[in-house]
Amino acid sequence: MNDNLHQLRCFGCGARIRGDQAAPDFRCVVCGDLFEVEYPGWSQRGGTDRPNGGALKWLWRERKSSSELLDHSGVWRFRELLPILDSFGNAVTLREGHTPLYHLPRAAKALGLDQLYAKHQGMNPTGSFKDTGMTAALSVAKERGFEWVACASTGNTSAAMAAYAARAGMRSLVLIPEGKIAWGKLSQAMDYGALTCQVKTDFDGCLKVLTEIVREAPIYLLNSVNPYRLEGQKTPAFEIAESFDWHVPDHIIVPGGNLGNSSALGKGFRELKELGMISRLPKISVIQAEGANPLARSFRANGGTALEPVEAHTRATAIRIGNPASWRKASQVVIETGGWCLDVTEGEIAIAKAELGREGIGSEPASAVTLAGLKRLVADGRVHESDTVVLVLTGHTLKDADYTIDFHRGKLLSDAEAAPKAAEIEALRRDAVEVEGSPKAVLAALEAVKGRWA
Ligand code: F0G
Repeated sequence: MNDNLHQLRCFGCGARIRGDQAAPDFRCVVCGDLFEVEYPGWSQRGGTDRPNGGALKWLWRERKSSSELLDHSGVWRFRELLPILDSFGNAVTLREGHTPLYHLPRAAKALGLDQLYAKHQGMNPTGSFKDTGMTAALSVAKERGFEWVACASTGNTSAAMAAYAARAGMRSLVLIPEGKIAWGKLSQAMDYGALTCQVKTDFDGCLKVLTEIVREAPIYLLNSVNPYRLEGQKTPAFEIAESFDWHVPDHIIVPGGNLGNSSALGKGFRELKELGMISRLPKISVIQAEGANPLARSFRANGGTALEPVEAHTRATAIRIGNPASWRKASQVVIETGGWCLDVTEGEIAIAKAELGREGIGSEPASAVTLAGLKRLVADGRVHESDTVVLVLTGHTLKDADYTIDFHRGKLLSDAEAAPKAAEIEALRRDAVEVEGSPKAVLAALEAVKGRWA
């Protein structure tokens, strides 16, 4: 391990340890908080270990036309800012990252914004943003000689972990909450050969069980409590900054579940600023589902300084999390960047997802909280007409096809949930129609929707 370049710093008490000294559950033995990766050489201006921002911008752009395997990864293309491996030759990659940044003209017009974009992390190899973190942390596991890796998951982490473990010839153990994950994700864990346990508890319960298992058995924990996950997940911040020619957007809007992703993106932008590669931080806002909103409640109650876990309920199963592990890190990101944390209703999530779909941008429900949250921020006057906004879409639409079909069939929401937005929902619904096998029948179906469908 490249311990001369990186160390782990406890987010709570500031204790510093070597990379290979972390406890199996990645909790600080002094105070119980989580660690983050730190690169001591970066702080010495003029020091030989401090990356040269100007040179890196040039090098990273050059790598876009390189034929090296590692340069085809949108994570390892930025490897100078994640020197966590002894040898980059040990990196396990599926060519993650390099995700598209889509303009959203319809949503922008509806909201009166000039510049609205979606950074679609669902376009990663296993269909979610988790791939960027998994390539980093699983590579560390491989380099340290582990045979088994494990995670608790609402589905996407397990899909990513199982795929990367399979590529590395390693074995993976998945704990998922029984009956509460989308089928697409469960099928991926099976496809990639994981041992998948459907545990009779929720996500928070799964993580608790797994934390005890890794203390007993030589299994490497790959949840986002593992600080190396966040090193990979910070790289979309680099991609976003690069896409805007290093003039960062005004707002980045991220869904919040276990709160690793918002923490990681915040770290990415912070590091770019510390290295002088960008001149300011974007405001980073975290959006949760109303029924799984511990951080939003914490911001309302005490400005994000203390968090009460909740029992989580939302159809956006990816973010059905009541006791988020990385809440302190995420809270600091929101506060330091001047962003907000809010929650949105099930109806708002469903509408936002359908609206994105109508722009040709499919996403899973957890991703759509970002557009729902943006609407609130615009209505409250926190996001202005001239602002540039990037929504981080975290998962692919095919992860949870049941949700989409139920919405369009009018079976997703309860009457009470749909009532406040009934007209909007009706206008967006596109249920399939059954017709006879004749041109006449299809033309009649076409006639029936003319004028009704915008
Ligand atoms: N969006 C999607 C599609 C997710 O899968 C997750 C988390 C999030 C947002 C929230 O990200 O936890 O970093 O705040 N999914 C995890 C999993 C928990 O197990 O796949 P976060």
